[in-house]
Amino acid sequence: MNWLQRLTPPNIQELVPYSSARREASDGDVWLNANENPFPRKSKGAFAGLNRYPEFQPVALLKAYASYAGVSIDQVLITRGIDEGLDILIRSFCSADDQIIYTPPTYGMYRITAETLGVQSVATALLPGWKLDMPQVIVEAGDSKIAFLCSPNNPTGNVLKRSKVLDILEATRNQTLIVLDEAYIEFVPESSYVDLLSNYPHLIILRTLSKAFGLAGLRCGFVLANPAIIAILKKVTPPYPIPIPAVEIATAALSAPGIATMKSEVKLIQDTRADLEASLNTFSFVEWVAPSDANFLLIKVKDASELMTFLQQKGIVIRNRSSQTLLENCVRITVGSAEEMELLLTEMKAYEAQV
Ligand SMILES: Cc1ncc(COP(=O)(O)O)c(C=O)c1O
Repeated sequence: MNWLQRLTPPNIQELVPYSSARREASDGDVWLNANENPFPRKSKGAFAGLNRYPEFQPVALLKAYASYAGVSIDQVLITRGIDEGLDILIRSFCSADDQIIYTPPTYGMYRITAETLGVQSVATALLPGWKLDMPQVIVEAGDSKIAFLCSPNNPTGNVLKRSKVLDILEATRNQTLIVLDEAYIEFVPESSYVDLLSNYPHLIILRTLSKAFGLAGLRCGFVLANPAIIAILKKVTPPYPIPIPAVEIATAALSAPGIATMKSEVKLIQDTRADLEASLNTFSFVEWVAPSDANFLLIKVKDASELMTFLQQKGIVIRNRSSQTLLENCVRITVGSAEEMELLLTEMKAYEAQV
């Protein structure tokens, strides 16, 4: 039994996935195998052909993402956002007596997804400076099926140090799956860990079109991993996960002009982030602004709920993160358009004048 078989619960090893009509036959002229309605809807473009089921893993989109990410198509699984990727990963590799580890403050869905599926979750909190508690992470990861790391991390905005991630990957070889959530990687592309996939077969990278690509409403994400892991995840993936319009829109976003648009918006957001950071640092009620490599800023204020209430009354919605580990009186602000940031800063000045 190899290391990956050892990590895969017996029910998943033995599972023969549902053999959908579309996967059994992809070629033909008269389609009578999937109980579809033969009458095409009268729509154009992305909405044409909706009387038919989509491909299980649409090849055009697989190719587009693989080319964008610099991997091969058998290293890619398309999911309905990273959130579905988390669900598929935990269902594929964890049984009730397994555990996952995560490093709060971080994205909440690692823990919630594990708990929803009856899998234990162990928290190893970050240390000051949002650093990984290395000895503890390595010990807990050793006892876990999956370790979830996030870089840039939400809500702290920092990237993980490459040498630390390498130490974790070395220590957990053949033992634990290391998942790196790169939802915000387009804001700091040089920090991606995708180049390590070929050296570390237990590394899994999660990507999404929800952030820099501006398609949160589309629900399209990707799992990047070695082909043997992708093959296991495919067993657990529903037969027709990606709607046809989503495939067309996502594939267009990954074309050369689509990527160019994304990059120019990233640049705008980075510039706006720098201006916002400088302005936030001038307020007397702001204790610190965490440097960020993503499209948001985490700040510590004197009274987070008071600020939230004030801004809410003005119609401005930011996120209170005070309930999270280490984040008392912290709020997270998404970097919006320059106009939105101006409105925010005007209201923050009004708040400052009254406290
Ligand atoms: C770190 C991180 N991962 C994943 C997600 C969810 O991504 P998706 O929209 O692809 O499900 C978010 C959303 O805020 C996030 O911050």
